[in-house]
Amino acid sequence: MPLAAVILAAGKGTRMKSDLPKVLHGVCGIPMVSHVLNAAREAGSENIIVVVGFGGDQVAGAMDGRVEIVFQHDQLGTAHALHQAATSLGGFDGDILVLCGDTPLVSAQSLKKMTAVHRESGACATVLTAQLDNPSGYGRIIRDGDGRLLKIVEQKDACPEELQAKEINTGIYCFRAEGLFQSLALLKPDNAQGEYYLPDLIGLYKGQGKRVAAVSGADPVEIMGVNDRSQLALAREAMGQRINAELMLAGVTMVDPSSVYIDTGVKIGRDTVIYPGTVIQGGTVIGEGCAIGPFSQVISARIGDNVTVRQSVIEDSDIGNDSAIGPYSYIRPGCVLDGQVKVGDFVELKKVKIGRGTKVPHLSYVGDAEIGEKVNVGAGTITCNYDGEKKWATVVEDNAFIGSNTNLVAPVRVGRGAITGAGSTITKDVPDDALGVARGVQKNIPNWSRKKMSREK
Ligand code: UD1
Ligand code: CA
Repeated sequence: MPLAAVILAAGKGTRMKSDLPKVLHGVCGIPMVSHVLNAAREAGSENIIVVVGFGGDQVAGAMDGRVEIVFQHDQLGTAHALHQAATSLGGFDGDILVLCGDTPLVSAQSLKKMTAVHRESGACATVLTAQLDNPSGYGRIIRDGDGRLLKIVEQKDACPEELQAKEINTGIYCFRAEGLFQSLALLKPDNAQGEYYLPDLIGLYKGQGKRVAAVSGADPVEIMGVNDRSQLALAREAMGQRINAELMLAGVTMVDPSSVYIDTGVKIGRDTVIYPGTVIQGGTVIGEGCAIGPFSQVISARIGDNVTVRQSVIEDSDIGNDSAIGPYSYIRPGCVLDGQVKVGDFVELKKVKIGRGTKVPHLSYVGDAEIGEKVNVGAGTITCNYDGEKKWATVVEDNAFIGSNTNLVAPVRVGRGAITGAGSTITKDVPDDALGVARGVQKNIPNWSRKKMSREK
């Protein structure tokens, strides 16, 4: 039987105190609604509809092309929100998952389990429930004397007896598509909030003699809703723990997982060790046997096997196998380092291609350059790549030796096996195997210092 999903995300999220729609706030690198989307997809939903309202164009813009967006112009309640998908799902014959855009921790496993129970029991509507010590704010699950689901009552409409229930509505459901939208149209907003309540559908179906089911025991962490920034931080923490646990199970060592922040979708190979204070973001892929950190930030980078990265920042670059980065390197976007490259302390690289076995060990800025294999770039080397208007390229060919404190004024080329004298400002190409020196000739003045001392006395 086909499965569709509708994600309700039209609410304003007032308590976020933000210009950004609530569901676009990030949790581990992606908007919270994208986590819900991923779970729905992984649970087998073929078509997914996101109901948007406040900041709808912004939310629509953040979704990929495989999602259908429908607008709910006035937020008249959760049943009204679901009803906006009626046109899209009019001819759909299957089951429909209904999820909230602000519960990023919901897992595909729970959705699968709920869908399976829904189908086995032949229910028209199934709700996922959880037991909470403090159910305050949630809709309460009301069961009859035999424990069968009767209805759901919102906190604001509940009588004191109903408020005792600790089993709550997670806001996650599975419905048979057949008859769903016709039934939604029968709901009335005669309740404390004057809204069209989706949970009322359970009571309505029950009254019509249709089968309804509740799947209990959802992990309270999974159904955690984000309404303000402190809940956003809690959701990030829980998601981060989940990501770290999965990586550790797959063979990654984390010396102190609580201090390691890894985004959704990051891939790390086995026997790689992540040291404390490390942040790994974007679609970063790290190979096997690496040592990353302590105190490093890796953003959208591809790192090979057996690479060490210490106290460094790497962004949108490729680092080849057996390379060593840091401490205190800053590798900016567009760098491609081959294997066995060393980039040492206080080195900044930008848009640089570096060949195998090359070393840039200390205190350099290299930008818009192509450096060959087995080159030694001496301490303090600077590429002068910017003339105030344009950026120019520097090329250093294989086996060249750049003397300490060389300025390479681009555009310029240092040939194969060539050497530049320490302290040179190289403005002209250096041919293969040549020495390029460009610095004032040293002059020694005998006894100058001694005379100065005696004058001063
Ligand atoms: C809802 C449930 C409650 C449940 C709780 C779980 C109702 C009436 N109550 O309450 O039983 O315990 O979720 O978290 O459904 N939304 C729209 N359009 C609207 C209204 C809401 O898209 O007109 C979206 C919101 O953006 C949100 C979701 O629906 O993603 C839930 O709405 P919210 O107002 O947070 O419902 P709760 O009061 O939390
Ligand atoms: Ca809510």
